[in-house]
Amino acid sequence: MYYGGDYNPEQWPVEVWAEDVTLMRRAGVNLVSLGVFAWSRLEPAEGRYTFEWLDQVVDLLHAGGVRVALATPTASPPPWFSLAYPEALPVTRDGVRLSHGSRDTYCVAAPAYRSACLRIAAALGERYGGHPAVAMWHVHNEYGTWCHCEHVAEAFRSWLRGRHGDLDALNEAWTTSFWSQHYTDWRQVLPPRATQYLPNPGQELDFRRFLSDEMLVAFAEQKAVLNALAPGIPVTTNGVFGGWVPVDHARWARSVDLVAVDHYPGSADLGAEEETAFFADLARSWARAAGRRWLLMEQAPNLIYTGARMLAKAPGRMARHSLSHVARGSGGALFFQWRAPRGGAEVFHSAMVPHAGPDSRVFREVCALGAELPALSEVEDAAIEAEIAVLWDAECWWALQSPGRPSTDVDYLDLVRAAHRAFWRAGYTVDFAAPDSDLTPYRLVVVPGLYLVSDAAAGAIAAYVEGGGRLVVGFLSGIADSRGLVRLGGYPGAFRDVLGVRVEEFHPLPPEIVAKLSTGDTGTMWSERVNVTGASTVAAYVGGALDGLPAVTRHGYGAGTALYVSTRLDDQAYGRLLVGEARAVGVAPTCAGAAAGVEVVRRRAGDTSWLFILNHSDVARQVPADGVDLVSGASVTGSVRVPAGGYAVVREAPSRPSIH
Ligand code: GLA
Repeated sequence: MYYGGDYNPEQWPVEVWAEDVTLMRRAGVNLVSLGVFAWSRLEPAEGRYTFEWLDQVVDLLHAGGVRVALATPTASPPPWFSLAYPEALPVTRDGVRLSHGSRDTYCVAAPAYRSACLRIAAALGERYGGHPAVAMWHVHNEYGTWCHCEHVAEAFRSWLRGRHGDLDALNEAWTTSFWSQHYTDWRQVLPPRATQYLPNPGQELDFRRFLSDEMLVAFAEQKAVLNALAPGIPVTTNGVFGGWVPVDHARWARSVDLVAVDHYPGSADLGAEEETAFFADLARSWARAAGRRWLLMEQAPNLIYTGARMLAKAPGRMARHSLSHVARGSGGALFFQWRAPRGGAEVFHSAMVPHAGPDSRVFREVCALGAELPALSEVEDAAIEAEIAVLWDAECWWALQSPGRPSTDVDYLDLVRAAHRAFWRAGYTVDFAAPDSDLTPYRLVVVPGLYLVSDAAAGAIAAYVEGGGRLVVGFLSGIADSRGLVRLGGYPGAFRDVLGVRVEEFHPLPPEIVAKLSTGDTGTMWSERVNVTGASTVAAYVGGALDGLPAVTRHGYGAGTALYVSTRLDDQAYGRLLVGEARAVGVAPTCAGAAAGVEVVRRRAGDTSWLFILNHSDVARQVPADGVDLVSGASVTGSVRVPAGGYAVVREAPSRPSIH
């Protein structure tokens, strides 16, 4: 179990380093991400390296038993670099070339930037590749930047050639016959820069795909250098997740040795716990599909920036968030950051050692968690049990971000999270799966907003139902092919047959309108004119233009069943529907007796299983369990009492059969 955080000794005088290591030992820290933003201190002038201070830090950490995720500092080029290579500064969509003064001031496609990255990566690889403290390489920081400059234009064209082959195919994929955009020469093709009115959605979608691939190539170049200089040391990069991030993490997972993610939930209420579980399930699923382990590389010990004001974590919450990740397979819990800085842009972002110093509530909680984690290392190889999958595809998110969609209220992430939340609240653990993955291990598959779908994936999903699977498809699924071209003949295009419905028209709902359904439930945001072509109606619209028409349908298809949900059901109704389908196919919650606000995840390795129990409520709860609580060391018979805001990890008495 890794435990630690980003360590920035370059911000502190040398006297503080020894205290840092002493405090790290006290806290149980065994891994730090080192040098993430230290480029200007490691290479103060081009080709002049000052590694002596880092030597000292790495040796000190090693002597203290703390291992190092050694970073390549390429997310923040030094001022000398920007001065020497101004053409490597990023250009916004509006054509503004950004200046040095923050971080991430580079264009990922600029040759000067790429070579500078490889040089510093090689210098670090040569110097530290053989150091026993180095547990892994942490390349860059949170890939996810945008640029629209000439370097990018050139690289984008070359990527487009690779994807589409020739201009004819590009013209078709982007429907350039619309608005006189037909290209006759590759030099005419540009990144989506600021333009007069709605930009071309095909160009927007391909640009995000390109950025993801271009950044992946930049990562892979550094990885290759480090692999050659330090064979056997795993290489990773910390993934950041958000609507502004043009990175397809599921694809990237195959190119890293370890899937590492940063997570900063943005709500103050139970939404933070839901979001934590959601993102941990996502990271776990990316890693599992790629055959990798995963690690929570950054989270906040306390205050985090979430817009206008920072959110504080109540006592105990940091530990529960950490364990929610560990329950879902993270190989530990790391933080941004070890010690709070005295200045700089993130001066009030929380740290394991806050401004108040070690005599503080936060540091005491950091030490307490650090003391508990080693006992959990026995779960390391245990799998997480899930019989339900929710499909996830970053490209659908990007496609639905394009302007010109029928409703800006519809957000892919919101649709996926609504499905996950319904299961989380009802005590189920779910996997996320790619649309073209093998769905046969799952008894229930939910498909929210799968706007783009390839013929192959649509065929596999239909085959899953035909073979006996249970499918729930949400609106705006199956609409377009992978190029973003609409499938004609009625929505939801790719899924008409399996669902037994044909939708003639969309009826997006304004925010103030609620669609009433015959079941008494309600829908918001979206509705549509659904005709059944084999399906039966589960719920119909009541009133309005769609009065009496189906809103939710059910269709027997082969040996399986497929449901269609044509509106954004309110959370309770969606929960009832999804849980009802889960029950119907024999999937029970992980712990039927757990009260609301208690999160339970089971892991299993061979005959041994573990129950992670997190009590997010403000009252103590008795939760059914038998075995030994690894946190307290106490044996558990019949049930375990979990205090308000507390947790238990019970190695279960070996009586429960595996579900697989
Ligand atoms: C990310 C970055 C860190 C820091 C934190 C702040 O995790 O990697 O450098 O900016 O966000 O939340």
